[in-house]
Amino acid sequence: MLLEIEKANKRFGGIQAVRDCSFGVEKGSITGLIGPNGAGKTTLFNLVTGFHPLDSGRVYFKGEDITELPPNEIFHKGLFRTFQIVRGYEDMTVLESLLIMPTQQLGENFWNIWTKGSKIEEQEKKFTKKAIEVLEFFEMADRKEELARNLPGGEKKLLDLGRMMMADPELVLLDEPGAGVPPSLQQKVNNYIKRISDDKNVTFFVVEHDMNVIMNLCDPIIVVVEGTNLTSGSPEEIKSNQEVIEAYLGEEERV
Ligand SMILES: Nc1ncnc2c1ncn2[C@@H]1O[C@H](COP(=O)(O)OP(=O)(O)OP(=O)(O)O)[C@@H](O)[C@H]1O
Ligand SMILES: [Mg+2]
Repeated sequence: MLLEIEKANKRFGGIQAVRDCSFGVEKGSITGLIGPNGAGKTTLFNLVTGFHPLDSGRVYFKGEDITELPPNEIFHKGLFRTFQIVRGYEDMTVLESLLIMPTQQLGENFWNIWTKGSKIEEQEKKFTKKAIEVLEFFEMADRKEELARNLPGGEKKLLDLGRMMMADPELVLLDEPGAGVPPSLQQKVNNYIKRISDDKNVTFFVVEHDMNVIMNLCDPIIVVVEGTNLTSGSPEEIKSNQEVIEAYLGEEERV
């Protein structure tokens, strides 16, 4: 397993957001995480990436215990996270928004800058070349001077994926890749995620409300209910699982 969560617990005041939750994400997979509203999905992402400390339990990445590590150290180990709303670069051009991405090799680059000043230019060239390659991958190279804010919704999502690729992650936690994407473009975004997974050897762990997106993109799918793992399986198994159906029916009744 590339990522393993073992008996995680997290409480916020009187709310047990995550309860004895255990599961794994296999290397090379696009694993989905679903569950009714308030099931603890976002909290699990926060625990894995070091944004919230666990009350108890362990998190392992590549076999290493990362439970106590701060977010930046977890990032430098190759675990990347996108947010539901990732913004702050709208006033930049598409190319600039890629070039400001930190890389996993930041420490190394940092020392290069101080010890070999002449290397800076070389480094910049390398980064620019990589950014152009990333844009070509998404067939967006002609957009490089465009302001990020002017891109249509679907292409903004592709830019988010491109910024992620600049960091060369091994595992990517995607929060709602379907959010803000017009349905007509969702298949295209899904196909790019699948291609990144296949060609670039990136593992994905995806939270998504849209069942069509999840069923089309992810295998296996992990279901969490009331803070704990209920079951996991292929899209077909999850669709026909009675416990899962009941968990979601319960949600509809509450609405
Ligand atoms: N920072 C926080 N402070 C207090 N309570 C929180 C906090 N974060 C989450 N919770 C509570 O923990 C529970 C789990 O929330 P979480 O956001 O993880 O669920 P979710 O599965 O992501 O839900 P959704 O599908 O609506 O995004 C909820 O009851 C929520 O209100
Ligand atoms: Mg959430």
